[in-house]
Amino acid sequence: MLSRTLLATFLAVISAGASPVQFSKRQSITALTSAQISAFTPFTHFASTGYCNPSVTLTWTCGANCNANPDFIPVASGGDGSSVQFWYVGFSPSQASVIVAHQGTDPSQIEALATDADAFQESLDPSLFPGVSSSVEAHSGFAGEQAKTATQILSAVQTAIAQHSATHVTIVGHSLGAAIALLDGIYLPLHISGVTFRTIGYGTPRVGNQAFADYVDSHISFTHINNREDPVPTVPGRFLGYHHPSGEVHIDDSGAWLSCPGQDNTSTQCIVGDVPNIFDGNVSDHGGPYNGITMGC
Ligand SMILES: *[C@@H]1O[C@H](CO)[C@@H](O)[C@H](O)[C@H]1NC(C)=O
Ligand SMILES: *[C@@H]1O[C@H](CO)[C@@H](O)[C@H](O)[C@H]1NC(C)=O
Repeated sequence: MLSRTLLATFLAVISAGASPVQFSKRQSITALTSAQISAFTPFTHFASTGYCNPSVTLTWTCGANCNANPDFIPVASGGDGSSVQFWYVGFSPSQASVIVAHQGTDPSQIEALATDADAFQESLDPSLFPGVSSSVEAHSGFAGEQAKTATQILSAVQTAIAQHSATHVTIVGHSLGAAIALLDGIYLPLHISGVTFRTIGYGTPRVGNQAFADYVDSHISFTHINNREDPVPTVPGRFLGYHHPSGEVHIDDSGAWLSCPGQDNTSTQCIVGDVPNIFDGNVSDHGGPYNGITMGC
């Protein structure tokens, strides 16, 4: 359960100055079919399971979220839920994919929030991200979180691919976990070839600058799903030089899942236009529900 007061404080800190109100014409945006929405359900449960302790993700005994993906075969789990977000890696036969999941922001862990508020942009570490231009910059706190588990995740993904002859890897997360997942989505393909990668984030904050968003658009497959008036995807602000990659799906007030083309689409049907200022946001929407699934172990 997210502490609203702490989350609101975190949002106020990192978006201090509040972005200017955007006025945009209502435009036609594509709604996903119910089959397309349902196809996300296993991955939404995998992201929610990211909040579970390694002791239960390693045995796949976390209860409802684990039972929703009953054939999953865990490979490795880690994190302590305070200085290192929980994570797990395994293989889903029914999705024919290795799954990587990262825990989201748990506001009971003030450390994680402090890290979130530490908003400056830095080039990606060339030892983890070889060959990526230094103009590609990410939020230092998110980059630091990703770096803590990067090599363990890489090794677990390599093991899972080898054990299951996998050809697909799907990386998921909610909140801070989505930011880490996006960075893993850039990192893993730089070290593993011959498989297809896909990243799905829920309530993803902005992670990097314009060059970062452009890199994501041209190199990786990324879908970021935003629920109603969740303010988290609107921070850090564009005025601070942060930009979302393409691939937004916005769940509107009617529960429709709308595909929003382009980066930071300012249509009022998409998150940037719907929540022009964090004070128009509703932190209760951050945890979901995402097609009936509320994030948390
Ligand atoms: C937002 O979506 C509309 C409708 O599809 C599209 O015409 C417009 O170009 C998009 N805006 C941006 C900034 O990508
Ligand atoms: C915020 O969202 C919750 C959950 O959807 C809702 O019950 C509540 O009325 C919303 N608050 C405001 C001020 O809109």
